Amino acid sequence: MGQIYADALGGASAEIEYVDGTRVVLEAARWFEPIDGDEAILARCAEPTLDIGSGPGRLTAALARRGVHALGIDITPHAVALTRRAGGFALLRDVFDEVPGSGRWATALLADGNIGIGGDPGALLRRVRQLVRPGGTVVAEVEPPGVRSRVDRVRLRRGAAVGEWFGWAVVSAADIERVALSSGFTSAGCGPERGRWLAVLRAAG
Ligand SMILES: C[S@@+](CC[C@H](N)C(=O)[O-])C[C@H]1O[C@@H](n2cnc3c(N)ncnc32)[C@H](O)[C@@H]1O
Repeated sequence: MGQIYADALGGASAEIEYVDGTRVVLEAARWFEPIDGDEAILARCAEPTLDIGSGPGRLTAALARRGVHALGIDITPHAVALTRRAGGFALLRDVFDEVPGSGRWATALLADGNIGIGGDPGALLRRVRQLVRPGGTVVAEVEPPGVRSRVDRVRLRRGAAVGEWFGWAVVSAADIERVALSSGFTSAGCGPERGRWLAVLRAAG
């Protein structure tokens, strides 16, 4: 996601810019400390867990602290370094490239909107289906039912500096079952947890 994102993880300000010119602050700081609903996510993670797009690794490290084998993967070198510093295992990997333990992960985690990675939730879930073992689950954070599912083109901005445009999807709780069932999962449940919406998608056993 580039230098602007890496700098934001280091505390620099950054914005997400949409193609219509709308800008919102990238709140990278919130990924460093536990937030409401994290416990519910962690409780749904079986061993071993693959934390996809682990960022600075608060969830990967929290799983390690409770003795759950977990690996974070991220495409941002600074994020991987931060995860390791926080006490988690992490590798610099794109989820769409080769990932260790393919087909053997009990849980794949897509937290903090990471179901948006790549801008095509169906393609992402088909890829993640290859990574989890038979009977394994995907724990995915989605948006509340009233939010419309969509794909945005966005880029990061810091002052006059801008990154490359990339696709990022938003998936509504109202749509996650349909997307999951058409992407190789046999069931999907979804509900609210302390202000967040968590979906659990199950692969056939
Ligand atoms: C919303 S942030 C991460 C938040 C993170 N789950 C946390 O708890 O801190 C999204 C992360 O996904 C990573 N990412 C984006 N595309 C990716 C890809 N194709 N494969 C792996 N990681 C990716 C980004 O580098 C970024 O760190």
